[in-house]
Amino acid sequence: MRVVAVMNYKGGVGKTTLTANLGAVAASRGLRVLLIDLDPQTNLTFSFYSVEDWNDRLKDTRTIRQWYGGEMPGREISLAELVVTPERANGRIENTGGRLDLISSHLGLIDIDLELAAMLGGTTTLEASKRRFLDLHSCLRRALMDEHFRAYDLVLIDCAPNFGLVTKTAIVASEQILVPAKADYLSTLGLDYLVRNCEKLVEQFNDYVNHKRGSGDHGPIDPSFLGVVFTMVQIYSQQVTLAQHAYIEEVRLNSMVPVLEGVIRNSPKHFGDAGESGVPAMLRATGKDEVVKEFEQLVDEVLGALAVPGGAKR
Ligand SMILES: Nc1ncnc2c1ncn2[C@@H]1O[C@H](COP(=O)(O)OP(=O)(O)OP(=O)(O)O)[C@@H](O)[C@H]1O
Ligand SMILES: [Mg+2]
Repeated sequence: MRVVAVMNYKGGVGKTTLTANLGAVAASRGLRVLLIDLDPQTNLTFSFYSVEDWNDRLKDTRTIRQWYGGEMPGREISLAELVVTPERANGRIENTGGRLDLISSHLGLIDIDLELAAMLGGTTTLEASKRRFLDLHSCLRRALMDEHFRAYDLVLIDCAPNFGLVTKTAIVASEQILVPAKADYLSTLGLDYLVRNCEKLVEQFNDYVNHKRGSGDHGPIDPSFLGVVFTMVQIYSQQVTLAQHAYIEEVRLNSMVPVLEGVIRNSPKHFGDAGESGVPAMLRATGKDEVVKEFEQLVDEVLGALAVPGGAKR
């Protein structure tokens, strides 16, 4: 099982679109994929379920909000109980052997994120505060170690555009981080900042783990950056526009994060409605046009880098 966080502080850069479509294409290649929506905006969830379906079937009993809520994440309900299998998307991958599951989100996760952050304080000794830090930050990591999740080849976590505690639990749980970004000044500016903040989190976590060696169930973490995926790239006559090419090259040469070869082109026709039909765009596409082919190549590259079994080209 590979766990990958899809994150960027910057909003609207294509995180959710990438998560939904990467998961869908991987599942169509026979992989067992779990998507986790950690964004209170709930866009990934609504890529697979209508608002009515979510209201009727998931809202009160099966969202990640219930799991993070309470005294300590996971005390009130197990993560495995939240897993659902979106029917329409899975209907498109029948007979492939693959499967696409989801843990849905809830707007109320905003409040929970703040409550969790408050829980970091309130301890009386330094030892207790370190223990609390480790317990809270590693909650998702511990939960994903459960036997139930061994059945998955790939877990993709769609993060909110922030560096709140819930996002941090995703980083701690992940072996790799995928960073979608637009090829423009503001989007590329924040990349090194993101890397540094992740490094700081990892350093602090491992520092506390080392102090507590032997006394608990926490091991050190070492998530790495799988790379930046440039999204909404403008392509004319098979070429990336000059301005965007310059930003991409700038990041390739000077940033701390590797840049993936594959890009996702700007195509409102394919990606514009963020999968409102309950089926991600790349599963809806009838013929293999340029956009689909490019996306398939990106999936080859990502699954190849992750060394996911069965992730090779069809
Ligand atoms: N390659 C693309 N071409 C055209 N439109 C796109 C593309 N990728 C995403 N979009 C559109 O851009 C908007 C933002 O995309 P998306 O929701 O995936 O971004 P996000 O990074 O998850 O946003 P947020 O930070 O709010 O969670 C959506 O309306 C989506 O349909
Ligand atoms: Mg999103």
